[in-house]
Amino acid sequence: MSNVVRLAKNTAVRAPNRFFSVLDFDHVQLEECLALAVSLKAARAARRPHVRPLEGLHIALLFEKPSLRTRSTFTIAVRELGGEVIEPPAEVVLGGRETISDVAKNLERWVAGVVIRTFAQSRIEAIANAAPRLKVVNALTDEEHPCQALADCLTLTEKWGSLRGRTITFVGDGNNVAASLAQAAIMLGAHVRVATPVGFELPAHVSAAIRGVTRLGGTLVETNDAVEGVRGADAVYTDVWASMGQESETDTRKTVFAPFQVNAALMGHAAPDALFMHCLPAHRGDEVTDEVIDSPTSVVFDQSENRLHTQKALLAMMFA
Ligand code: CP
Ligand code: NVA
Repeated sequence: MSNVVRLAKNTAVRAPNRFFSVLDFDHVQLEECLALAVSLKAARAARRPHVRPLEGLHIALLFEKPSLRTRSTFTIAVRELGGEVIEPPAEVVLGGRETISDVAKNLERWVAGVVIRTFAQSRIEAIANAAPRLKVVNALTDEEHPCQALADCLTLTEKWGSLRGRTITFVGDGNNVAASLAQAAIMLGAHVRVATPVGFELPAHVSAAIRGVTRLGGTLVETNDAVEGVRGADAVYTDVWASMGQESETDTRKTVFAPFQVNAALMGHAAPDALFMHCLPAHRGDEVTDEVIDSPTSVVFDQSENRLHTQKALLAMMFA
């Protein structure tokens, strides 16, 4: 058993039963999750056995929005941790056929956990509150995308060793991905900048919560000037201008966000060899140009790969 990846240097560190937000973690849990992901990633690459805490358990994937990366990586993660997934159709589970609390109370009798992608964060809370025995993971809401932030921080840790003192600039919409990235990075001591058009800033309560979890000298700076935001940054991150559910705003947003396109000229204001990051899917030619996303300093597919390893670590901690 000595080659089996174990939970933790510190086996007392477990994840909470509910992972709605990065802020459901404290910094110890966040660092533990990233460290465990490193171990699980190495074990997978070497085809070494590792923890299988989901043996004999089922996890339900409930997705009300499209997904390539999140759905695929959670499916693989559950299977590699010994469990099985069920994928009830969204229109049956979350489409109003029965109340969301009745859905949750049914699922609670069959599965150990649910991974949910939905619209308002309150829908996840409704499921968790109706079925307290279920472990519940946020696979993206309108407000947050915490699993993405875990992968992003693992990617940066691999590149830099530590986020402490590094400057990470999110350019574009102050959306779910921006919020979760800022929460996680600031807990690891990064200087986070968020550069958005006027009217598309992080919600004020999100900024306040981020400032409340600052550690190791990390800072949050918000600006409406893309060049100022990117100046000297060690990493530049962007995301789509219109998120899922905002498709009707696509055309108007293209005009407003045009000065926030991440192109070679904007990257020229960042530090030499600054990393480019994107959660994907990317709308090439809108928020990012081909030359940037395909450049040698783009780490977008590392981020995508790391979704798997960090979600395995998260589930292993939740089901330890
Ligand atoms: N980044 C991300 O969550 O991708 P999907 O929407 O494909 O899951
Ligand atoms: N902000 C995007 C992220 C997609 C992974 C959205 O919510 O559609």
